[in-house]
Amino acid sequence: MSREYRAILVLAIVAILQSPTVAQIKGSPHDLSALSAGDACSFCHTPHSTSLQTPGWSRQLSTAVYKIYQSSSLDARPGQPTGASKMCLSCHDGTVALTHTGRSGPSGTYITPGEANLGTDLSDDHPISFVYSDSLSAKDPQIRPPATLPQELALDRSGELQCTTCHTAHDNRYGAFLVMSNQRSAMCTSCHDLDGWVGSAHENALVLVSGTHDQYLRGSTYATVADNGCLCCHRPHSAGGDERLLHFEKSEDNCLSCHDGTVAATDIRSQILRSSRHNVAAYSDIHDLKELPTASARHVECVDCHNPHAMQSATNRPPVIPGSMQKVTGVTASGSMTQQAQYEYEVCFKCHADSPSRIGSTITRQITQTNVRLEFDPSAPSFHPVVSPGVNKHVPSLISPKTVASVIYCTDCHNSSTESGPRGPHGSDYFPLLAFNYETSDFTSESEFAYELCYRCHSRNSILADESFPEHREHLDQEIPCSACHDAHGISSVQGTTTNNSHLINFDTAIVSRDPSTERLEYVDQGVLRGECYLSCHGKNHSPEGY
Ligand code: HEC
Ligand code: HEC
Ligand code: HEC
Ligand code: HEC
Ligand code: HEC
Ligand code: HEC
Ligand code: HEC
Ligand code: HEC
Ligand code: HEC
Ligand code: HEC
Ligand code: HEC
Repeated sequence: MSREYRAILVLAIVAILQSPTVAQIKGSPHDLSALSAGDACSFCHTPHSTSLQTPGWSRQLSTAVYKIYQSSSLDARPGQPTGASKMCLSCHDGTVALTHTGRSGPSGTYITPGEANLGTDLSDDHPISFVYSDSLSAKDPQIRPPATLPQELALDRSGELQCTTCHTAHDNRYGAFLVMSNQRSAMCTSCHDLDGWVGSAHENALVLVSGTHDQYLRGSTYATVADNGCLCCHRPHSAGGDERLLHFEKSEDNCLSCHDGTVAATDIRSQILRSSRHNVAAYSDIHDLKELPTASARHVECVDCHNPHAMQSATNRPPVIPGSMQKVTGVTASGSMTQQAQYEYEVCFKCHADSPSRIGSTITRQITQTNVRLEFDPSAPSFHPVVSPGVNKHVPSLISPKTVASVIYCTDCHNSSTESGPRGPHGSDYFPLLAFNYETSDFTSESEFAYELCYRCHSRNSILADESFPEHREHLDQEIPCSACHDAHGISSVQGTTTNNSHLINFDTAIVSRDPSTERLEYVDQGVLRGECYLSCHGKNHSPEGY
């Protein structure tokens, strides 16, 4: 270092020591003057610096090799810490004594184990020491262009984001030495422009964060969900789940910590404990934000159906996607991936359609199909009207306002069994995740309750009065369930025909078998309200029986 340069430095440091910074550090967690003789600045600065890192820097830097943050959605390429971050880490990685400056040796007090000690594993901390450039924001439209950042959030001379972009060592007026207030996520949203965040349920929730939540929002001075914002679910350091910096390692815990009837009004935790459920607790470390439904192992998490940044409370009309599922990925009726599902069923199709890890059928049918997309396809010989209005123009049992032009949600049938409880296919007392009871075993005596699910939309009186199939009542009296004849979804056009599989006819082979004389198991549609059956059921052979 040249003589002149050193002289300028000394002058600069003298100026520093007289600046208002002194007053701001006094009494803050960075006032280490109690540790040894010296002023509040000397742990970090000295007029006689031997370090060439930064003018006036007094501390020994750490030689640690760090584990750095990574995730499948990260576009930035952070490397080993550089620049000012190395200065912060010279105390905060816990490997260098707080007093290890140019003046004093390596031994002494280290930073206390705990939250302020980030350790050398930075994979659970907000990424640092990468170039935050226009090309990064071009790659990731949810990252604002660096030129639009407020002046408080300064990148270093190399355009890198450092600890010192978010923090200042000197001024603790916003808490956690932040450079600006993060109330209502003001700091996070200065850089992150999350699609759907503004106006979302969480951005807006003026609900108090209380009880156990204080524990993980430790250090927060804010009272409401809205004020804590991103930090309701994320933490910039020592995150539980490293990837995406969430409080908890298990994905669903990041939601259930509030949606258990404590902070949020809806208790989803008790829903997912029911006998039939989307068992989010059974899976961990499988879901990935960037996953392809056709390539991921079987799993389900809250965030498979909800975008944590964009959910709203509004309901919608089928098949349009409800508010709580805004901006979730999906698979369309034609089987292609979409970044933003427009219809509710597109979300379900991610896992229950072409996915190789989809679950099997609950009923043994003449025609087996586990790809629900094919079952509900508008080209199918018959189907419940989920993707498009149905094919039958004569369905006298429909209860107003439902008509043959109606479209329904998967969740009209698959939903919570507590009618007053939170909506959604989280859990139910009725297998498989049905909103209402639906008996499928042979020898079920007909009642309002036995087929409650169907009777929500189809009038029981109409069915029992034989307004369409003239033998409905007879079969129901014989204790034959609806499911012996009807498939609740539809029959794919790949397998079924309009002659044999109209009216959702797809026999349950545990109840119905081949007619011994004709060797046939078949329904034959013969036009409006006419048809015949070849089969054997309850010991009676139809060889055939017509109506
Ligand atoms: C806990 C460590 C620490 C303490 C204590 C500390 N500083 Fe700093 N200071 C830093 C770091 C780190 C930088 C470099 C910031 C950067 O590069 O963005 C810095 C930079 C500076 C700068 C350059 C301008 C700026 O803000 O970047 C001044 C002036 C300064 N410090 C003054 C002081 C004074 C005066 C004191 C004592 C009252 C003091 N500092 C105490 C860590 C500290
Ligand atoms: C000389 C060592 C030293 C350096 C260098 C240092 N810190 Fe600290 N810092 C501490 C100590 C000690 C504490 C108090 C820890 C505790 O409470 O256990 C602390 C506390 C903090 C806190 C918590 C404040 C609070 O309100 O609880 C933050 C945030 C922080 N430091 C950030 C930084 C950043 C950013 C840098 C670099 C610009 C930095 N520190 C540099 C020693 C240092
Ligand atoms: C993107 C912004 C950002 C960056 C970069 C960042 N921090 Fe933080 N840091 C925060 C916020 C926000 C908090 C307050 C967290 C809270 O209130 O829960 C915080 C809190 C802390 C704390 C207090 C302990 C804790 O876990 O709450 C320390 C210590 C700290 N930061 C040090 C650092 C160091 C050292 C670096 C660089 C290696 C760094 N920070 C980089 C945003 C950042
Ligand atoms: C100064 C700008 C800045 C601030 C402030 C900031 N971030 Fe970031 N953050 C970034 C950039 C840039 C990335 C890298 C994005 C990428 O590569 O896709 C990032 C990455 C992340 C990631 C990892 C993303 C992934 O795909 O793995 C999370 C999570 C995150 N930030 C959350 C936060 C939270 C929460 C806050 C507020 C406490 C915050 N950030 C504040 C700029 C910022
Ligand atoms: C309700 C909880 C919750 C809130 C509030 C929240 N996040 Fe997230 N965030 C998550 C979860 C969960 C993921 C991971 C989603 C996944 O794995 O599918 C995530 C992912 C991310 C990612 C990584 C990928 C991406 O591009 O979507 C970033 C960046 C991020 N959040 C930043 C933020 C910021 C900034 C805020 C505040 C403006 C915020 N989050 C608010 C829960 C939340
Ligand atoms: C810090 C507490 C908290 C966390 C964590 C949290 N939420 Fe929420 N959530 C709320 C509050 C408060 C509302 C507003 C409605 C209310 O008061 O219940 C809300 C609203 C919602 C809504 C809109 C529908 C409604 O009830 O109004 C959905 C859907 C939702 N949250 C799902 C999630 C999911 C999924 C996660 C995890 C990724 C999550 N939440 C994490 C507190 C939280
Ligand atoms: C991310 C994948 C995924 C998505 C999206 C998904 N499911 Fe599932 N679903 C599963 C898995 C896995 C199971 C098996 C039960 C379990 O392990 O939790 C299941 C089980 C079911 C069951 C049977 C429950 C039982 O008790 O056997 C029904 C019914 C169901 N899902 C309906 C739906 C509906 C309706 C939607 C759309 C609103 C949907 N699913 C979206 C993965 C998914
Ligand atoms: C009209 C009511 C109804 C609608 C609408 C409906 N389901 Fe079902 N679903 C059922 C019934 C009843 C069962 C039980 C099996 C049966 O009766 O065939 C079932 C079974 C299932 C199963 C368990 C596996 C199986 O095939 O048995 C899954 C998964 C499922 N449905 C997903 C969906 C999805 C996804 C949608 C929307 C695309 C949907 N369902 C729409 C009534 C319905
Ligand atoms: C298989 C998809 C799926 C999964 C998994 C899922 N949800 Fe839902 N959730 C839904 C649907 C569909 C709705 C109802 C939307 C509507 O009708 O408005 C819903 C509604 C909600 C609501 C609003 C309830 C109300 O009555 O306002 C909350 C809160 C919620 N979910 C939270 C969660 C949480 C927390 C998890 C994880 C434990 C989770 N969800 C898992 C699909 C899902
Ligand atoms: C949410 C309302 C709803 C529920 C619940 C419901 N359906 Fe339907 N169903 C409809 C509508 C709407 C149509 C008219 C479709 C059409 O025009 O083809 C229909 C049509 C039918 C048809 C005639 C299909 C055809 O192509 O001829 C049968 C059979 C049927 N439903 C049986 C059932 C059974 C069995 C159940 C109970 C598992 C049930 N439905 C539950 C709404 C519902
Ligand atoms: C023995 C077989 C069988 C059983 C059991 C059965 N159905 Fe049907 N159902 C049919 C046939 C065949 C048709 C078609 C009649 C036609 O249009 O030619 C039909 C038509 C229907 C239709 C469409 C026309 C209408 O009435 O609106 C509905 C809805 C329906 N059934 C509901 C049910 C329900 C609900 C149950 C159980 C409570 C049930 N079915 C039990 C054979 C059966």
